[in-house]
Amino acid sequence: MESHLEKQNGDVLQKSFKEMISTLPKKSCWGLPEDQYQYQSFWFSPPFLQGALSAQQQFQAQPTDIILCSFPRTGTAWLKSLTFATITRTSYNDSTTPLLSKMPHDVVPYMEFDHAQISINRHLGIPLLATHLPYSFLPRSIIDSGCKLIYICRDPKDTFVSLYHFIARHCKSQNTQPIQLDEALELFYEGISSYGPYWDHVLGYWKASLERPDKLMFLKYEDLVEDTVLYLKKTAEFMGYPFSSEEQQQGVPENIVKMCSFDNLSGLEVNKTGRHREGKGNMETENNIFFRKGKVGDWKNYLTTEMAQRLDQRTLQQLSSSGLSL
Ligand code: A3P
Repeated sequence: MESHLEKQNGDVLQKSFKEMISTLPKKSCWGLPEDQYQYQSFWFSPPFLQGALSAQQQFQAQPTDIILCSFPRTGTAWLKSLTFATITRTSYNDSTTPLLSKMPHDVVPYMEFDHAQISINRHLGIPLLATHLPYSFLPRSIIDSGCKLIYICRDPKDTFVSLYHFIARHCKSQNTQPIQLDEALELFYEGISSYGPYWDHVLGYWKASLERPDKLMFLKYEDLVEDTVLYLKKTAEFMGYPFSSEEQQQGVPENIVKMCSFDNLSGLEVNKTGRHREGKGNMETENNIFFRKGKVGDWKNYLTTEMAQRLDQRTLQQLSSSGLSL
């Protein structure tokens, strides 16, 4: 239980955080109940920024940690389920895996929400953690410890469409009015969304992956969709949990891919009816909000040609001379 002293310290921290963010540029946007604040050129909701700053001060990475990094709506839950199932494949089988009763975000916690202050909660037997923080925001101990990072990114048009639907549903559950798609597109284009600008987020990890390819694996959602087994095998090897030839003959990678497929996970009772961050105010969501369509190119159903071209031009301009295409 929280002691009186801990509560007092918590109150002081809360007060100094509130004072600090009151000096930052802010925007009321996407119809969200809370304003977004710009800190060191990225945008954050207050609880995420507070978590980021706590993580920077307190999070202690272990050399064996594997940190799954992503911008929201780029395939985080899928990557969590694939890596979790791979790492725990000798402890659980298809009928005992925790993925059957917990949603992926509950088996691989977020560093900046779940472990920024309470690192004792960590299940050290499972070295996976996730973060949406930009590369430049990662706690120093992550870089110094030499632990591994896996980044997943996605076509900005699909990322935007997925984000728009996610926020619209979240707004409805909070009884606030979501904004129109074209207004949201302008904000996304200008980089104003939680953890945005999207392109800067991607570029930070892309550049780091070129500098430290042995420590940072860079994945694209589209590649993972196209050949999930191939990329799962590469990811397993990168993590230090390669599939043996015997496992490959037995079809272990294929079984993991099947278990973590969109159809399978989205059909599980926990992901259809469960709730995430229950009791955490406006952070609480339904689990099924994280499973929408899981398709490449769904943007075609929502964006006009003009909107798509505008985003494509932005992407070309932002990624020019980086060697990366999205
Ligand atoms: P869509 O909204 O385009 O369907 P994140 O986990 O980073 O929030 O990403 C969410 C996106 O990944 C959503 O995209 C979601 O449907 C999709 N997704 C969730 N689980 C998936 C899975 N097992 N396979 C493929 N895509 C998945």
